[in-house]
Amino acid sequence: MDMSLLPPELCEAERGFPAALQACGDLDALMRLKGAFIGREGSHAARMMELLKAAPKEQKRELGAAINALKGQWEESIRIRQAELEDAKRKQGALAQAWDPELPPPAPAKGAMHPLNRLMDRMVEVFRPLGYHVEEGPEVETEAHNFDGLNIPADHPARGSADTFYLKEHAELLLRTHTSPVQVRVMQRLAPTLEEKGGIRFLAPGRVYRKDEIDPTHSPMFHQVEGLLVGKGIGMHHLKGTLNYAMKALFGPKAEVRFRPSYFPFTEPSCEVDVRCPLCGGDGCRVCKGSGWVELLGAGLVHPNVLRFSGIDPEVWSGFAFGIGVERTAMMVSQTPDLRLFFENDTRFLAAMGGLD
Ligand code: DAH
Repeated sequence: MDMSLLPPELCEAERGFPAALQACGDLDALMRLKGAFIGREGSHAARMMELLKAAPKEQKRELGAAINALKGQWEESIRIRQAELEDAKRKQGALAQAWDPELPPPAPAKGAMHPLNRLMDRMVEVFRPLGYHVEEGPEVETEAHNFDGLNIPADHPARGSADTFYLKEHAELLLRTHTSPVQVRVMQRLAPTLEEKGGIRFLAPGRVYRKDEIDPTHSPMFHQVEGLLVGKGIGMHHLKGTLNYAMKALFGPKAEVRFRPSYFPFTEPSCEVDVRCPLCGGDGCRVCKGSGWVELLGAGLVHPNVLRFSGIDPEVWSGFAFGIGVERTAMMVSQTPDLRLFFENDTRFLAAMGGLD
């Protein structure tokens, strides 16, 4: 409306109306505002009607229309606000009624084991019926256990500081680059009682470290599960039988396993073990990079030098060993394209991984 027709105090009331309306937090406050703006007596609207009465005849028409419009606006806005506040009050009442003090409180969110730990546990369970127990080794290792004892020569590139994290204060200590040093530790410990015990069988799950940049398939920290069996007359047939059984127990009875010749300093002969790609069934896809197979572990017959280093006579004893890549297996089973997801701890991803086992 044309505000020039109104005295200043009414102009001010008009300008302040929206904020005053919004400030009404309950119905009582709204009723007070209603009285002040459009009440029968003493309100801004009543005052406007007085003005109208006193106005010169030729202004009455225009002023009357403007006042009615403004009053109408106020009434409408107050009606809407009133409906809102009544609605809120009703809901609050319903909520208060619905609250039953005798009901137990909502269950707190539960933590769960990380999918990688669950997968490692499953691997342990698969080998347990075969007589394998669990061994652990330190993550800070000596060069002797991580390299020398495993027949890895001093000039091997993996021993360089470009690939391996050495401790600044103790140059001979490093973060283990694989779980294989657990082989050396356990063999050294059990060598004296080997004849009496008849052999060694264990699984060693754990963290390992390499100087790799983080990308979808690399991380400076990852997990492996090491396996070792030492006995008399152990050959590749034992290794193949064991791993065939384990892969079928892990991936289902139809899982197909392939052994490819390879090289590791600590085994002779050595092989790499692939399983038929679970995603494409062998036709070739992104996960298996078109080959139809995914490589999951390295294995072989324990090198005589490795047995000898740990105090075991290779003329009497032989064995097989293997090292499984845990992230690699988890990625394959769950078809997760990016390794980093396992370490970001986004609970939506971790919850979705519920199906991993
Ligand atoms: N230590 C190897 C690696 O980190 C994996 C491996 C290969 C372990 C062959 C073994 C083995 O025990 O026999 O790549």
